[in-house]
Amino acid sequence: MNPSSRSLFVTTALPYANGNFHIGHIMEYIQADTWVRFQRMQGHKVHFVCADDAHGAPIMIAAEKAGITPQQFVANIAAGRKPYLDGFHIAFDNWHSTDGPENHQLAQDIYRGLKANGLITTKTIEQFFDPEKQMFLPDRFIKGTCPKCGAKDQYGDSCESCGAVYAPTELKDPYSALSGATPVMKSSEHHFFALSDPRCAQFLQEWTHTPGRLQPEVLNKIKEWFAKDEQGNGGLGDWDISRDAPYFGIEIPDAPGKYFYVWLDAPIGYLASLKNYFDTGKARANGELRSYDEFMADPATEQYHFIGKDITYFHTLFWPATLHFSGRKTPNAVFVHGFLTVNNGEKMSKSRGTGLDPLKYLSLGMNPEWLRYYIAAKLNGKNEDIDFNPADFMARVNADLVGKFINIASRSWGFISKRFGGQLGDPGAEGQALLEALAAQASTIAQCYDSRDTARALREVMLLADKVNAYVDLHKPWELANPKNHDKYLEQGLSIDSVNERLQAVCTTSLQAFRLLTLYLKPVLPALATQVEAFLNVAPLVFADAAKLLPAGHTIGTYEHLMRRVDTPQIDKLFEPPALVAQAVSATEAGKPTATQSDEPGPSASACPGGEAIAPTISIDDFAKVDLRIAKIVACERVEGSTKLLRLTLDVGETDDTGQPTTRNVFSGIASVYTPEQLVGQLTVMVANLAPRKMKFGLSEGMVLAASHANEKAQPGIHVLTPWPGATPGMRIH
Ligand code: 2FM
Ligand code: ZN
Repeated sequence: MNPSSRSLFVTTALPYANGNFHIGHIMEYIQADTWVRFQRMQGHKVHFVCADDAHGAPIMIAAEKAGITPQQFVANIAAGRKPYLDGFHIAFDNWHSTDGPENHQLAQDIYRGLKANGLITTKTIEQFFDPEKQMFLPDRFIKGTCPKCGAKDQYGDSCESCGAVYAPTELKDPYSALSGATPVMKSSEHHFFALSDPRCAQFLQEWTHTPGRLQPEVLNKIKEWFAKDEQGNGGLGDWDISRDAPYFGIEIPDAPGKYFYVWLDAPIGYLASLKNYFDTGKARANGELRSYDEFMADPATEQYHFIGKDITYFHTLFWPATLHFSGRKTPNAVFVHGFLTVNNGEKMSKSRGTGLDPLKYLSLGMNPEWLRYYIAAKLNGKNEDIDFNPADFMARVNADLVGKFINIASRSWGFISKRFGGQLGDPGAEGQALLEALAAQASTIAQCYDSRDTARALREVMLLADKVNAYVDLHKPWELANPKNHDKYLEQGLSIDSVNERLQAVCTTSLQAFRLLTLYLKPVLPALATQVEAFLNVAPLVFADAAKLLPAGHTIGTYEHLMRRVDTPQIDKLFEPPALVAQAVSATEAGKPTATQSDEPGPSASACPGGEAIAPTISIDDFAKVDLRIAKIVACERVEGSTKLLRLTLDVGETDDTGQPTTRNVFSGIASVYTPEQLVGQLTVMVANLAPRKMKFGLSEGMVLAASHANEKAQPGIHVLTPWPGATPGMRIH
């Protein structure tokens, strides 16, 4: 490995395991993944990990509502992560959970370290207690009337009507959002991290002011948090790190019934995921031969966290202090980003995930690298909000990425391939000068990536692409290649050989330039870069490759179409609200003519999607009764005596008592549209808890899902469902 190679440990914030990813998560992961890929292209060793943030009262309560254990609840959420990560080429080296044994151990060790340093204190405090649920209520689970404006049903910490912020005890007529009971005040002993201890203030002043640690705008905010007023009030207060049972969390050593507050153990989850990555041999498989302890004890190991601005306090004060005073390495830097809005609209980070659904984006066949490119083109390394603007998105992808960059390859590969047997020639003096100008930008672009100013990196790359396109426009390879122009060249005293040589030089320059630009874009567009590497027949590109060109005589591979443009219908669909049958119903009831109105009351079949009205509303509990699972069709055969049925053998990831894998036998009426050969090996979706049904041909142990129009004659066809790539047998559909 390169002697200047560094060892980096990088994380994004750990998402709460109470819901699927929204676009705010994906933005952060794309930012971090791009940075990690860039560092690797610099020859550095990077370990990039994440985990589910599993603990806390909200998850415990959500699991209880769903009738499952918190562990199962978290596992269900975790099982849905892969399609998002794979879909957007976000390549964490490890994904773990803060409820893993490593985190229990590490959190308890860290707590003991803080205690040994005299930084844990206890104090009895009074809090609202739900006498029915027999639990202390977090602020968000207490509701009542706003003490300031009198608005009813406001949360215990702030009023959504007038914006006032207050303590839950100030609410009028408080009630528990869990049981409706009137909460009572109850006292309990809590554990505190003594951040008011002068040692903490001194350490944090130093840590936060160390150059390179924090963005200037973040540091300015922190200075406000440190500040004390003239009376000496304000500054860092002690941090309540305990919660009383029942709580889904990690037990505090020697304090029965007390758990760590989720924010104490969540960042420790960074270390726990890293430890799990080492202990399970994954680090070794990635060429890291040291143990977790050796890696973390090495002063040269660098630690970086990517986070959103709303969790700055936890990461720049609590977290470094927790690490330092338990005798551990502190982060080299915390990189804070702003929120993502759509059309200058709603906030899209954290709690409100509306607007741009990442899975919908993928399911529409939209290229994940369009989004990576767009996000990278907006992020500049500062703690600023960015906006997803659909028109801007289309313009940047179509005009810049495809129009400027991809176009360079499309304009030249055909000539090299057809006229020169795929061989590159010499770029010629002018081409050489252009390529040198491109290569000279490597360090500027690298610097932009390193400082996470991807907006500038991409601007620089597009300026270079402009230069290359101007060069191609000037030298017009299509004219050099056109036999109709030969006479003109001969009249100019040029031989056909020299014209061909010129054609090869121009196209060689153009493909060499395309290689350099691909290298510069690779952290953002990894899949495209892999395709280009195959097309150009080169080894995986790293930044050092900018210093050298491909030799004359190098043979390129076959060009495969690289990227198409975004089209307006795709964008329209992406933001289209889900079709509501209710709209058709109300239009009919109101006597307004609809395009398909019939004489029948209520919605006509033809006005309804798929030819039938949406079934009556069910509750989430009703839905939860249907256990839908991913199933692999491991075998399939026709059923003798039936023209309709196929016999499917399905693997739903089940095993028998001895641990041997078992399969299910399911009959499905799809023989008219599928042959067994088409189905074997495919993944599908089945109802796994349907009572087995005795049929003439045997027992059917479930049902495979398929779509069809209600009026088979009007719209024939049966379409078996297949999951998005990444699903594996046994996964539940939620
Ligand atoms: O704000 C959040 O989504 C938290 N789950 C982030 C935790 S980051 C780290 F501390 F684990
Ligand atoms: Zn109010």
